[in-house]
Amino acid sequence: MHREDFPLLNEDIIYFDNGATTLKPKCVIAKTVEYYEKYGANAHRGDYDISYKASEEYENTRELVKKFINARHLEEIIFTAGATESLNLVVLGFFKKFLEADDEVLITKAEHASNVLPWFNLVKTNGIKVNYIPLDDNHYVTLDNLKKVITPHTKVISLAYITNVLGDMRPIKEIVEFAHQNNIFVVVDAAQSIGHIKTDVQALDVDFLAFSAHKMCGPTGVGVLYGKKELLEELEPLILGGGMNESFDNENEVYYKELPARLEAGTPNVAGVIAFGEAIKYLEDIGLENIENYEKQLRKYLVDKLIDIPHIDLINIESDSGIVSFNVSDIFSQDVAYYLNKYNICVRAGSHCAKILKKETNVKNSVRVSLYFYNTFEEIDELVDLLTDKDKILKEML
Ligand code: ALA
Repeated sequence: MHREDFPLLNEDIIYFDNGATTLKPKCVIAKTVEYYEKYGANAHRGDYDISYKASEEYENTRELVKKFINARHLEEIIFTAGATESLNLVVLGFFKKFLEADDEVLITKAEHASNVLPWFNLVKTNGIKVNYIPLDDNHYVTLDNLKKVITPHTKVISLAYITNVLGDMRPIKEIVEFAHQNNIFVVVDAAQSIGHIKTDVQALDVDFLAFSAHKMCGPTGVGVLYGKKELLEELEPLILGGGMNESFDNENEVYYKELPARLEAGTPNVAGVIAFGEAIKYLEDIGLENIENYEKQLRKYLVDKLIDIPHIDLINIESDSGIVSFNVSDIFSQDVAYYLNKYNICVRAGSHCAKILKKETNVKNSVRVSLYFYNTFEEIDELVDLLTDKDKILKEML
């Protein structure tokens, strides 16, 4: 679908690394150029027309994000550099203030590093405990398994909506319902889900949600932290400087601005945020449901073919997203990626930043195909053809 919108698809490549970043459509690229050519001033700082225009466009994107995730208030949308910064901001700016020794945070071993390492930091600074929700036989999180590890000390559950190696979707709404009945906060890493399924923060009732623009056809270096307004009010800024302060005369008289400016110190990625607005409009025009349905068809087509190849070990036969991870038996995943690259096929190989997942799956590295709406059944045929002959892989991989 919509392949003509993506200049990189004219370059004779098959791009299957959408979990790492998606390609950018012409409208996003054009908006970036428009900003630099027509009103490339700083936002919120200049008393002249092109700065007003930059500020207006920047704030338009905030409005678009608010609608896209159905947030209640504009101030609940904080622009960051990406999902990683958003997660660090919430863990170190909010939870570090509140969590005490022996408080427990629940994650899983399938989480990406950005939803693990900030919590590990609080183990050191605050003496909290990080515990793991066991995954079921298909590597899914279930409410039953969650209930088994909840204790009176559990204060936070922090989960990816869709994970980046296994591609499973978590029952976030049910988890939040249960968590809130027990006074537990829920943080959601939506990096892998935001461009693929509809997200409604009010329906989910999550406390915080983090995502990146670049995994949803937007520019790199832009992300969002959504938080309920009353919680963001309590979040201590980690970065202090221009744009976030109202005034300061000396160290005892420092006054910060209201949300969202308070959490957006320094010159933000003005061009990126403005172009991000185009990505949101673009995805909404296609329709998240259409994207989700098409990806499911692509996934089924790929899995049905891979399952018939004896030397392919599929890691996530069951999953809800366009993420398919596998190994070619006895061949290192990066060698497979290198072989596919000879045929201009882009996949990711390795541990995919989910370094404790191996304790759950017994698989340290894998090849990951992550699909998006511009991929085709024909591209999958080409991939499968190249994977079918193991001798060819062995001969050509080095
Ligand atoms: N988190 C990104 C991925 O899974 C980078 O590839």
